[in-house]
Amino acid sequence: MVDKKRFTSSRKLDHLRICAEKEVESGDAGFGDIRFVHNALPECDMGTIDLTTRFLNHTFSSPLFISAMTGGHPGTKTVNERLARAAERFGMGMGVGSQRAALENPALGDTFSVVRDEAPHAFLAANLGAVQLRDHGIEWAERAIEMIRADAIAIHLNFLQEAIQPEGDHNAIGCLAAIGELCREVKTPVIIKETGCGISAATARQCWGAGVSAIDTGGWGGTSWAAVESVRADEGKTPQDNRLHTPGKDFTGWGIPTVVSLAEVLASGGPVIASGGIRSGLDIAKGLALGADLCGMALPLLKPAMESDEALARMIETIHQELVATMFLTGSVKIADLRKTRMFILGRTRQMIEKDNPARIRR
Ligand SMILES: Cc1cc2nc3c(=O)[nH]c(=O)nc-3n(C[C@H](O)[C@H](O)[C@H](O)COP(=O)(O)O)c2cc1C
Repeated sequence: MVDKKRFTSSRKLDHLRICAEKEVESGDAGFGDIRFVHNALPECDMGTIDLTTRFLNHTFSSPLFISAMTGGHPGTKTVNERLARAAERFGMGMGVGSQRAALENPALGDTFSVVRDEAPHAFLAANLGAVQLRDHGIEWAERAIEMIRADAIAIHLNFLQEAIQPEGDHNAIGCLAAIGELCREVKTPVIIKETGCGISAATARQCWGAGVSAIDTGGWGGTSWAAVESVRADEGKTPQDNRLHTPGKDFTGWGIPTVVSLAEVLASGGPVIASGGIRSGLDIAKGLALGADLCGMALPLLKPAMESDEALARMIETIHQELVATMFLTGSVKIADLRKTRMFILGRTRQMIEKDNPARIRR
């Protein structure tokens, strides 16, 4: 008999270590296919470029969102602490990792609540899987929100990971209804996020219909849970055997690239967080220019957050410098100006966006 609670918690450490040490990225999220048109006469002062933006009635000093990563094992607390300090210092939003482990075992609650202690003013998103929401109901969502005094709750969709995990939840029936109920019953805004396979236009329409406040694309091209789970299976870390190793590897190519998912979601509404494979300030500028309200990063912030506050701050400053340089070179003083810049959309990304609807890009 598998002890599911113990696995929920110990998986968290495996995930951090594997993501920090192994090759777990899937490919090209589509940002390489986007080219800004250079403005040789930008007529603006780079020193006055303003990164302030708004999302769900909050003002952010930066459009960089720290995507959900961790908490749930004592060894993850320091990472959450550092990420939260950075969120507070740079005026960024942050999501915590799935709070399931602490809902199953309240002794782990401080690995999450530490983020509110360290970031009293930051926009924080609680996190729960759609399956856990369906199985445990609104009470778990309310406890997750309360645990970090969250400004929003992200319900994550990760059925690829569930499908290839021997210990995964393999029944998705009832999740949409549970999301609808959550949106009706709880005042805190609900964000639906994928975790590396992206959200399609049809899924986005279902989510808006259920009453969600925002969608986070969590698109393909960055961290791949198929890759992470196949490493875990290789290491013998899954509770059964490693017979699912090969499907894990084969599914690293599965998903909607982030840029395509962003276009699909924006076709039916917003606000939207673009995430999945965003790797630089230039990628953030591209996501914002295409219509995203915020751009989320997970993996690139993980290694520096495991190292020190200083390493994390250096990484964030570099990302901001790249974003500011891109804004300068497109003559954009404010984030809103970026959305008016000219871009070329090339290659496979153009094909995927144009296939169904050539006018889809941008709101
Ligand atoms: C170590 C790690 C743990 C993660 N854990 C969660 C989680 O618990 N809940 C969730 O919604 N997403 C989780 N994610 C997914 C991220 O929030 C994000 O959607 C995904 O990694 C794509 O972004 P990236 O390519 O910048 O890493 C995790 C990502 C990483 C790297």
